[in-house]
Amino acid sequence: MRAIDIIYKKKRGEAHTREELEFWVKGICDGTIPDYQLTAWLMLVCMNGMNFEETAILTELFAKSGTILDLSDIADYILDKHSTGGVGDKISLILIPLMAACGGKIAKLSGRGLGHTGGTIDKLESISGFNTGLSIDEFKKQVKDIGCALASQTTDLAYADKKFYELRDVTGAVDCLPLIASSIISKKVASGANVIVLDVKCGDGAIVKTKAEAEELSNLMVEVAKRLNRSITAVISSMEEPLGHNIGNSLEIIESVEVLKGRGPKDLVDLTFELGAVLLTKSHIAENKEAAIELMKQRIKDGSALEKFRELIKCQNGDDSCIDDYSKLPQASIIKPYVAQKSGYLKRIKALEIALACKLLGAGREKKTDEIDYSVGIILNKKVGEKIEAGEKLLDICANDESKIALAENMLKNAFEIVEEPTKPEPLIYKIIG
Ligand code: URA
Repeated sequence: MRAIDIIYKKKRGEAHTREELEFWVKGICDGTIPDYQLTAWLMLVCMNGMNFEETAILTELFAKSGTILDLSDIADYILDKHSTGGVGDKISLILIPLMAACGGKIAKLSGRGLGHTGGTIDKLESISGFNTGLSIDEFKKQVKDIGCALASQTTDLAYADKKFYELRDVTGAVDCLPLIASSIISKKVASGANVIVLDVKCGDGAIVKTKAEAEELSNLMVEVAKRLNRSITAVISSMEEPLGHNIGNSLEIIESVEVLKGRGPKDLVDLTFELGAVLLTKSHIAENKEAAIELMKQRIKDGSALEKFRELIKCQNGDDSCIDDYSKLPQASIIKPYVAQKSGYLKRIKALEIALACKLLGAGREKKTDEIDYSVGIILNKKVGEKIEAGEKLLDICANDESKIALAENMLKNAFEIVEEPTKPEPLIYKIIG
């Protein structure tokens, strides 16, 4: 079998056999198939798709390309959560310690930024010393000892997805449903969880833009997971405006800590509770949604969720003093307000434009070898539905370079829609599947 024949086959829009996909994934993992051939194939998959059978096989091969963890000796229910990616989406940073504080065992494998969306691993690495590259033994031990771990795929888990993911990020191959499904579900299968909630983002700042596409992706992931003996629930949530106020790596750590201190913005808190309630009820920690939300509120109020985050940071060699003193996190040297040009009500904050402005400031990668600037980003001062006066601050730009501020400001010109009549934000949750 030759790599070029696999590429030609996808070019003709034909479906791959299991043997072909095995050859392909093995070649990518052992380096015998180079990045440029993978790039060509990824683009052909974006254009010509993959059927359900191919997607399920690719998912299985991704999962099997590394160790598949067995955490059944730790607890009957091992929880996990994954998002399809959004702007200002820092829920994992909050939910993982919160679930552990509620008595759950949660084992989370995360990724770096993908396309315009941020990645939990990049955010965590803005904490000085934080080790995201846990070995499998360390990952397991930590879940056993403190109830939670947050690691990247540098461990031997879903190794093939890591290779594909890095290239997809920089080659325009992100918004492809079968590739998203195999990427996410393989990591969920590999990390050994059996109670899984997926936050499927939908809207301007999401990888998938329409409700119809989000439903299609959700159904695909639920079915692929079923085929691999995993039960998952997909929560479709709005990503029309950024989640919370802070966008950017260290800025999102700060806002997550604020939520754990009981001072989080409503949309971020509500979605965290919605996803947490699925995990707590499915693992029988809480009897119903109301009891689950009450338990989460309690664990935030009594400080145990925040203490769990501290424990997680310490266990992974991070400097936990950033929880008490945000100046210990990377700081931008320039803070520049961006103001409204006219008065009215904020109808839209386009999450994509905000994300692209952050990327221009240096918060994300253009090439896979790029270094990111952990300190830069945007702090929104207003959310959709709020009244605004001309000249009032819409956001702060946090930057380290004047020339990048000019680029970001240019991008932000189209990010806000201000209207005369009062408006309301989109509902946060559209649908729950599975
Ligand atoms: N998150 C992932 O892990 N993979 C994707 O493809 C998209 C979001």
